[in-house]
Amino acid sequence: MNKIVEKLRSSGGISDSELKLLIECKSPEVAEFLRKNADEVRQLHYGKKVYLRGLIEISSYCKNNCYYCGIRRSNSSAHRYRLTCEEILGCAENGYKLGFRTFVLQGGEDAYFTDELLCPLISEIKRRHPDCAVTLSLGERSEESYRLLREAGADRYLLRHETADEELYRMLHPTPMSLENRKKCLYTLKKLGYQVGSGFMVGVPFQTTEHLIADLRFLQELRPHMIGIGPFIPHRDTAFSVEEAGELNLTLRLLAILRLMFPTALIPATTALGTIAPNGRELGLQNGCNVVMPNLSPVAVRKKYDLYDGKICTGEEAAECRVCLENRIKSVGYEVEISRGDAIDLYK
Ligand code: 5AD
Ligand code: FES
Repeated sequence: MNKIVEKLRSSGGISDSELKLLIECKSPEVAEFLRKNADEVRQLHYGKKVYLRGLIEISSYCKNNCYYCGIRRSNSSAHRYRLTCEEILGCAENGYKLGFRTFVLQGGEDAYFTDELLCPLISEIKRRHPDCAVTLSLGERSEESYRLLREAGADRYLLRHETADEELYRMLHPTPMSLENRKKCLYTLKKLGYQVGSGFMVGVPFQTTEHLIADLRFLQELRPHMIGIGPFIPHRDTAFSVEEAGELNLTLRLLAILRLMFPTALIPATTALGTIAPNGRELGLQNGCNVVMPNLSPVAVRKKYDLYDGKICTGEEAAECRVCLENRIKSVGYEVEISRGDAIDLYK
């Protein structure tokens, strides 16, 4: 098994059957060897640096109905809110003072956030904080919209493909959503010059190892700058409420595999990972992650951005998350990097 890890590290290229063995391998010794290699590769490119992204959750309204998600349209128990432009600018201001140089505007697919509203908002954030990057995570939009937002100053876009298997995609997303459109959006974003992030959930209902291999293969084809993965976590008001959450160790193996396959990618230790285990994010950092995304949303709305049960950091102020994460990063021997943290040139 260690030979497969070495092969993956030296060339990034292994067969589907080798990937399957690695993904399914339960041996703690192999997991440790994989972790050690992932950490070495990450240190080769990024040293001990961990990049901070300030997450601002701008809206819990969503027109989609993804079966796994707590803010799906049909969940009538979901608490809906949207932040005003003033509130969003306030979060960015607060974040800037705390040392953030990237702001991630994330939300459900909410028709209220038109291009007419978003473009001046993005320009204003960039005017006030010219040394910062703006990342958007607002779902599927038209090519024209993505172009206008880019012209207004948006630098990056996060849009997970969620799963690269057509059939599984259909089991997780009712029509009119389609994997085809999701992929089209991702390629459009790349074409428009965004730094693009994609990714998938681990342990979502019906998922097999073959599906995970398809996710890795799709990412090899897309070549995103950033890759976000996290365990699926059930939400009480969804059809998947009684399903098991994704496994910690499987997620960690996949993170390490991603680091070896994509040596220079920016890979976050996600909030979902921190939710399934108290030290989940620290373990993520030790398995190749080099980004964390503390929450900058106003505490008054945090519980309402309720994607899955038990989400951490819903009671803490931005400053508290900032300090908490810095301590966590230091506790495993890494250091906070205060800079925009753009993707370094990929896949040379
Ligand atoms: N468990 C884990 N992650 C989830 N997401 C949405 N719902 C869940 C859930 N129940 C993730 C999706 C989405 C991101 C914003 O949150 O992958 O892209
Ligand atoms: Fe939010 Fe620890 S990161 S409280």
